[in-house]
Amino acid sequence: MFSVCTVSLQLRQCSKYFSPLIASRSIQQAVRMSTISEAIIKDHRELKEYYNEVVNNPGNHDHQDRYGNQFTWELARHSVGEELVVYPAFEKYLGEKGKAMAEEDRKEHAVVKELLKTFQNMKASDPDYVNQLQKLWGPLSEHIKEEEERDLPTLEEKLQTVEGESASMATSFGWTKAFVPTRSHPSAGEHPPFETAMGLLAAPIDHVADLFRKFPKKKVSPNPSTE
Ligand SMILES: [Fe+2]
Repeated sequence: MFSVCTVSLQLRQCSKYFSPLIASRSIQQAVRMSTISEAIIKDHRELKEYYNEVVNNPGNHDHQDRYGNQFTWELARHSVGEELVVYPAFEKYLGEKGKAMAEEDRKEHAVVKELLKTFQNMKASDPDYVNQLQKLWGPLSEHIKEEEERDLPTLEEKLQTVEGESASMATSFGWTKAFVPTRSHPSAGEHPPFETAMGLLAAPIDHVADLFRKFPKKKVSPNPSTE
């Protein structure tokens, strides 16, 4: 049986492959969040910010590349984090309704991951760079709206009946994001057990490759000092 606890434990055991600095930053951020909804919504706002930096800076390719990489890094980790921590909680706490919500959300993630896979391999100098990001942002922003307006409030209402559960999930979400792939791997599948096994194989390669990518200098990222 695959549980959130099992995933968190397995991810912690894999920590030797990953940057302790990034892991500790992600976890510290999650610990400061008092609910899982806050942690998820914080990510959504950051994604919007990175999207705007790319779209609103035409011609500044260095800036667009940095924020495009930051967007990919954040969205890849956020998506798998939700699949491993949040969607199982839908199923656990909300019964049949939760299963349907999780299934719908996984399908929406699969669409976004395919679009992200194309975007992450592009450079800002590519004439379709911004178009591809906008193409991705359409379904992603719809998905974010549904999560914030429907899914998370429904889950949070249930979680409030179990003391500390929402905060504990926020911490698990932070742990998970520290150790999952930082690039999109849609062929890994939509369901957590398969995605986890395949994703963990890809994660160390993603983490090392990030050291050679450019990221915004003032943001928490894998390699903020890269020129
Ligand atoms: Fe989300």
